[in-house]
Amino acid sequence: LSPVITVDGPSGVGKGTLAMQLADALGWHFLDSGSLYRLTGLSAHNQQIDFANHQQLADVAAHLDVQFLRDSQGGLQILLASEDVTAEIRTEQVGNLASQVAPVAEVRQALFQRQRDFQLPPGLVADGRDMGTVVFPGAELKLFLTASAEERAKRRYIQLKEKGVDVSIARLAEEVRQRDERDTNRSIAPLCPADDAVMIDSTEMTIEEVFESAMTYVRD
Ligand code: CDP
Repeated sequence: LSPVITVDGPSGVGKGTLAMQLADALGWHFLDSGSLYRLTGLSAHNQQIDFANHQQLADVAAHLDVQFLRDSQGGLQILLASEDVTAEIRTEQVGNLASQVAPVAEVRQALFQRQRDFQLPPGLVADGRDMGTVVFPGAELKLFLTASAEERAKRRYIQLKEKGVDVSIARLAEEVRQRDERDTNRSIAPLCPADDAVMIDSTEMTIEEVFESAMTYVRD
């Protein structure tokens, strides 16, 4: 079986950026598992499925018609039933739909095999919440990224500012804390590092420093 590196951590910690950089550096495949939850939420919403019907939600998850493509700038392009939903799935609204389907056991079960199918030669870098604990417990290297809530709120603030959205850092920090609370305390797949995970606290690190730090473990 091909080797796997898992990158887990809370919302807004820069897991996606790190995982994609690692995948590029190694020439490995990349799995953005959060996008599968986002796509399930969006697809269920579009099909007007009752979110209380867990079996139907799981059917949506099992039959997602999704393609992950790398665009010319090296970014990830996501097609749902041939429609480009790359920007749409990053919206706050779809994030909310994702967080409603993520705690549903039947959905997680349906997505489990889909995620495992990404493990192809020459290797896979998988980013999410439970990559090292549930989906790829046998991974060769498990990274767990953290950063203070204040720092994550600040990064989100800068991102939004670039898009012309004006919100207060205090409000963003509060949202980040609430999100952490929900992710850590949910009864199914709560966010926690695997026993054998390497912790990287990125609070006072640049993107390049986080990448360099991660690469030192990869080289071991
Ligand atoms: O980082 P952020 O929460 O903004 O987005 P994401 O990583 O795309 O995750 C979207 C939603 O899916 C969140 O509610 C996560 O808790 C959930 N998720 C999950 O339950 N398991 C994963 N492996 C990845 C994401």
